[in-house]
Amino acid sequence: MGKAGIDRRRIIVALDYADVESAEGIVARLDPSLCRLKVGNELFTRAGPAFIERLQARGFDVFLDLKYHDIPNTVAAACQAAADLGVWMVNVHALGGRRMLEAARTALDAYASPPLLIAVTVLTSLESRDLGEIGFDTEPGRLASRLAVLADDSGCDGVVCSAREAGAMRSAHGADFRLVTPGIRPVGARPDDQRRTLTPEEAVTAGADYLVMGRPITGAADPLMALQDALGEVDAASGM
Ligand code: C5P
Repeated sequence: MGKAGIDRRRIIVALDYADVESAEGIVARLDPSLCRLKVGNELFTRAGPAFIERLQARGFDVFLDLKYHDIPNTVAAACQAAADLGVWMVNVHALGGRRMLEAARTALDAYASPPLLIAVTVLTSLESRDLGEIGFDTEPGRLASRLAVLADDSGCDGVVCSAREAGAMRSAHGADFRLVTPGIRPVGARPDDQRRTLTPEEAVTAGADYLVMGRPITGAADPLMALQDALGEVDAASGM
């Protein structure tokens, strides 16, 4: 906690590694009072729940980014498994539909401190042409807005969205609806394969609650310093 008990851990560092050793190498250089960690499909498939437990034992909150998308019963059970593991945030595909989202919500409501339930709307890798091919005759942005409304209605705590969509999402949803935004690059950082990035300060000003950042921190010569610099930008936007 920072000033006046405010939780400063708004940056979620993406552990995009194929092996546990590399991931643990970077984790050892980060501080759980300054950030949270995201573990996705590749690392989870290789390292499993035991790795998540090790991160938690070091004091880190974990966003388990497995994007569940299945029948309601199966997704509810998977969310329960994530909650039993004690993760801080879990996500599901809004394309799974209302009954699937509501089943996830109901499963998590059985916990005293459930993980935040976040929906993925439209993968940013999909363009209009790709959507047409799978039967959606609409623009990605329009579909994303529509799915965010469905996620909100179905009891999700928020969505993953581009920082560039955060302003519109914030206007369309309540202040408690969490916006989790990747595609963040601090001033002067390389864009890597990201397009149309925003700085931490711009993302927070647009209404983002949590910023997912990978390479600008994990690829830095001094990851802790890179994190602190990005936090400085977040604090500037939050008036801290
Ligand atoms: O290294 P970088 O900061 O680009 O990492 C961003 C992280 O956010 C990666 O884990 C990536 O998979 C994830 N992500 C993204 N864009 C999305 C959804 C997730 O970059 N639309």
